[in-house]
Amino acid sequence: MKVAVLGAAGGIGQALSLLLKTQLPAGSELSLYDVAPVVPGVAVDLSHIPTDVKVKGYGKEDLNSALEGCDIVLIPAGVPRKPGMDRSDLFNINAGIVRNLVDAIADTCPKACIGVITNPVNTTVAIAAEALKAKGVYDKNKLFGVTTLDVIRAETFVAELKGLNPANVHVPVIGGHSGTTILPLLSQVEGVSFTDDEISSLTHRIQNAGTEVVEAKAGGGSATLSMGQAAARFCLSLVAAMRGENVVEYTYVETNSDDARFFAHPVRLSANGVEEILPYGKLSDFEQKAKQDMLEGLRGDIKLGEEFVNKA
Ligand code: NAI
Repeated sequence: MKVAVLGAAGGIGQALSLLLKTQLPAGSELSLYDVAPVVPGVAVDLSHIPTDVKVKGYGKEDLNSALEGCDIVLIPAGVPRKPGMDRSDLFNINAGIVRNLVDAIADTCPKACIGVITNPVNTTVAIAAEALKAKGVYDKNKLFGVTTLDVIRAETFVAELKGLNPANVHVPVIGGHSGTTILPLLSQVEGVSFTDDEISSLTHRIQNAGTEVVEAKAGGGSATLSMGQAAARFCLSLVAAMRGENVVEYTYVETNSDDARFFAHPVRLSANGVEEILPYGKLSDFEQKAKQDMLEGLRGDIKLGEEFVNKA
């Protein structure tokens, strides 16, 4: 298994690479790419950890070498939010970064599964899809927006509120990855019931958890450690599926549904990426209204990404 992390010297990239170095199956390779000159050092640093995972760092000019033969490519490259910024404020810088990286993936390892972490995910996934399409190599089963952080946050907050072990709490989160497009399905959490006030405040907290971190870091960036964990969980699920295990993760993928072209669903993974997009089940009245209210915004975010590539 060969996994590339693009943006590996950043806050998320380093945390994610550490987790993958210690948790990828024996015999795997980890390819670390960044435009920051520190990236070879990050690779050397990680290479001293005694696991059977080979790590190699690649600098600015070596993107194609970094991508050679990759099965999975994770993209946390780009700028993070500062206080007062919305994820959409990152579009101007990050759209071009994602486009260039995906073009290189299309040329070098077009069959790889791609996990887009760079925000605004609602839009950058559409950019990646259109960029791959323009190169004639788009496979909708192999492109994912990584929304796992919303899931792990929801699980943590529900467990905290109800005094449960978070390891036993599972919270579906559908939709997109910003503000109200993040839709936790609290009505589907097994064995737990909530008052209307709890549903409203928990939903709001899950939707704004990223901002909680941005404000607490006071200009020092956004979530990196929890995001590293979330991306590692997503990647390891993909690796497990590629090795024949039955794995379901919530992730932002191209769907055939009426909701929006891209929408986070429960997805059964396989060696080929998406094996099956599962239905997200029955929504409560609160969730149904929240979904209706956010769809137009999500569709607009997606259109922005499509136009970025197609009008260029
Ligand atoms: P960071 O600034 O710590 O790291 C970003 C890294 O990307 C830097 O090392 C930088 O040199 C590198 N980079 C910039 N342009 C590049 C290019 N063209 N090729 C390769 N590398 C490049 O930022 P951080 O905190 O790691 O966040 C990265 C991205 O992840 C941001 O867009 C942030 O908004 C997003 N994010 C996504 C989350 C999600 O749930 N999907 C959660 C948290 C952050």
